Amino acid sequence: MLQKPKGTRDLLPTESYRWQDAEKKVKEVLESYNFKEIRVPVFEYTELFQRGVGETTDVVQKEMYTFDDKGGRSITLRPEGTAGVVRAYLENGMGSMPSPVKLWYNMGMYRYENVQKGRLREFHQIGAELIGSSSYLADVDVILMANQIFKALNIPDIKLNINSIGCPKCRSEYQKKLREFIGKNLDSYCDTCKTRFEKNPMRILDCKEKRCKEFNVGAPMMIDYLCDECSEHFEKVKETLTALNVDFEIDSGIVRGLDYYTKTVFEFIDGNSGLTVLGGGRYDGLVQEFGGQPTPAVGFATGVERLMEMYNANNPELEETKPDLYILSLGDNESKKAFEISEALRSQKYIVEKDIFARSFKAQMKYADKIGAKNLLVIGEEELKTNTAKIKNMISGEEKEVSLDVESIKNVL
Ligand code: HAM
Repeated sequence: MLQKPKGTRDLLPTESYRWQDAEKKVKEVLESYNFKEIRVPVFEYTELFQRGVGETTDVVQKEMYTFDDKGGRSITLRPEGTAGVVRAYLENGMGSMPSPVKLWYNMGMYRYENVQKGRLREFHQIGAELIGSSSYLADVDVILMANQIFKALNIPDIKLNINSIGCPKCRSEYQKKLREFIGKNLDSYCDTCKTRFEKNPMRILDCKEKRCKEFNVGAPMMIDYLCDECSEHFEKVKETLTALNVDFEIDSGIVRGLDYYTKTVFEFIDGNSGLTVLGGGRYDGLVQEFGGQPTPAVGFATGVERLMEMYNANNPELEETKPDLYILSLGDNESKKAFEISEALRSQKYIVEKDIFARSFKAQMKYADKIGAKNLLVIGEEELKTNTAKIKNMISGEEKEVSLDVESIKNVL
């Protein structure tokens, strides 16, 4: 039998209703902060991610789905949303819109990763990008919004870790110190780390190889080298979060896997699995990197599959929606009447099923029961003649007589 590619999933109806429910709640949170939805292409020119995410990141070096199209252009399936959204912001002249521009998205992402729990090759992210404000207030705003997502989804066991990874100004001093530290053991690091040593030593701290991780213990931390501006910015973020009673911890080990970050970075960790369920931060250089005016920005993305693990664990009672009514009909004329009624009710948002097999009475009863229809209406020869029928409430067993018109049926549902 044909199988789906490794690292992908089918989302079946037994689960999709849960996704829809959670997605609706997250959307409500994002829109309450006046973020507006944006959708960008699944594929972009490869250069966008090389320049945006960074040549020396795992994502670009190891994980991208890249191919040449028939015209010989290098194309990449988006591994993340920020680069595409910033490209769209620039290409569509959104810089002239009232600032800040606040955008959210819910999109599939593609990374050729080692597949394991919580790590897929096709996964989904709900993300938010706030473009235009350099103030610490914007960092606080998006962190609060992320926090609200977990509240709206009734997920209590979540931990917020924050850090600052400075700006290009303070980073050059830090990189010098970091090279001194790593340089002592460089020969023992993996080949990828060796290639990163000159270009981007901070990426070495993000290496997943066991031996590299061991050598990294005790490395100097960026947070100890922040310039005055970055340090003050971070102090204000912390102070404001504290004043607003948002629990957080400083994790000076957060470097994030993408190169565009500056200043504040943060991660929300699943208290149960230890996985990062939402990650983000400030990226003040990206708009300019793509050819725009210097424009600060901050945002985050949550992995929907990881979020759903937590949502399901914390909201077991959520049930699939069941049909409001099953119309059992026997015969062609009865079926026509059933069509008339079901069409009218469906157009008023009722979920209605009717027979489309010309099945027997017994078979239709069985089916109505299996699909969990809340009410049953039987239309046989007699009902059609008298234009009256009974609606049975399938949960209480109670029966009520109605005339075969939509208004009187609606009164009973
Ligand atoms: P990221 O940390 O690479 O950031 O991904 C964000 C989230 O996506 C992760 O915390 C995780 O929940 C989920 N995720 C990442 N990779 C996988 C995977 N292979 N399988 C399942 N889930 C995964 C970004 O992508 C940034 N664009 C976030 C951002 C937006 N920063 C600023 N604005």
